[in-house]
Amino acid sequence: MPNGEKQEKAKLETTNIEALIRTLMKKHATPFMIIRRSMLEKQYERFTKALPEVTPFYAIKSHPHPEIIKTFVELGSSFDVASGVEMQKVLKLGASPNRVIFAHTIKSPEDLEFAKRRRVRLMTFDNEPELYKIAKHYPKAHVLVRIKVANKGSQVELSLKFGADPEQAYLLLRKAKALGLVPKGVSFHVGSQSANVENYLQALELTASIFNEAEENDLPLKMVDLGGGFPIPHFDNEIGINFERMAQQIRKQMHTLFDTRKVQFIAEPGRFFSGPAGILVTQVIGRAFRNNKNYYYLNDGLYADFSGMVFDHCKYEFKTLRRGQKFLSTLAGPTCDSFDTLSVNEEIPEMYVGDVVYVKNIGAYSSASAVPAFNGFPPAKIVMV
Ligand SMILES: Cc1ncc(COP(=O)(O)O)c(C=O)c1O
Repeated sequence: MPNGEKQEKAKLETTNIEALIRTLMKKHATPFMIIRRSMLEKQYERFTKALPEVTPFYAIKSHPHPEIIKTFVELGSSFDVASGVEMQKVLKLGASPNRVIFAHTIKSPEDLEFAKRRRVRLMTFDNEPELYKIAKHYPKAHVLVRIKVANKGSQVELSLKFGADPEQAYLLLRKAKALGLVPKGVSFHVGSQSANVENYLQALELTASIFNEAEENDLPLKMVDLGGGFPIPHFDNEIGINFERMAQQIRKQMHTLFDTRKVQFIAEPGRFFSGPAGILVTQVIGRAFRNNKNYYYLNDGLYADFSGMVFDHCKYEFKTLRRGQKFLSTLAGPTCDSFDTLSVNEEIPEMYVGDVVYVKNIGAYSSASAVPAFNGFPPAKIVMV
């Protein structure tokens, strides 16, 4: 798309979003998070169009709101859950057990028993003690070995905590079989918000060599789990993120390294599905002049819906409904903790109590990791549109 056209489109989107915010503020007190169903649908469609051989399992940890899960159930998505509680949630909302993966490599005995009762039999693991535990609590479970792969440039590094050495993968799958489990294949995660496609390409190469080793030793594998990590822009003019181009390269690698008619590919997108749908709307509840600049205190902060700035290492673009000259300012959350500061160098117009500050693309790892009411400030209410 030519640059001029892009700018026109962005302007129109801003006008529409700001009109939506003004309308919703007549009915809802801030802070609230708008979740746009149309964006959930759009992201699902983009994913399945760009990677048609890959079945997406929405990682509900990124945003587990029931209406989001219901939307993905209706779209025909499968689900990635990290615990028995998440499993119960997706099953209750209509997901069928064979469309759920228990994608945590460390599972409690109780959660394994629950998975057995509810017939959620596909799961990941990355170490031998876990295999003994699975075999004890869920005999005949289907398992994918999660391998450690490069997380270069990813916003959230996951290989520090999870993943078996790829050289151990075949032996672990062999062990799984000896314990009466069903070794299905290999899983990996390139780290969350990975704009570096090389991470996927290399991980697929490692996976293919494990498939070859297993095949040579009479242990044919059938499933590759590409994990999550698919990136989204968090800023309007962000460059370097092109999901469709990444997907094209991933697909090419899949076709080069695997017989795609025989191997089933799945993935666990979280952020890519839930992130772009979310718009957080907050208001200024106080202002002060300190350190030679304006400090604006918002009614949402790091302990609630901006928790992704801590746990997800995420940066956001703060927007206001005011126009005009911009000044270097500080934005802070509402709690009595100076750590609860969102930005000390925002270029924003002068604001007053009651003014709106909103953030787009904040649907993932935001409300999901908010604490219920630190200092008595509740997280944003979800408003589905
Ligand atoms: C096992 C697993 N799968 C999927 C995801 C979702 O990743 P993302 O939101 O980067 O797509 C995560 C995120 O931490 C994860 O740990």
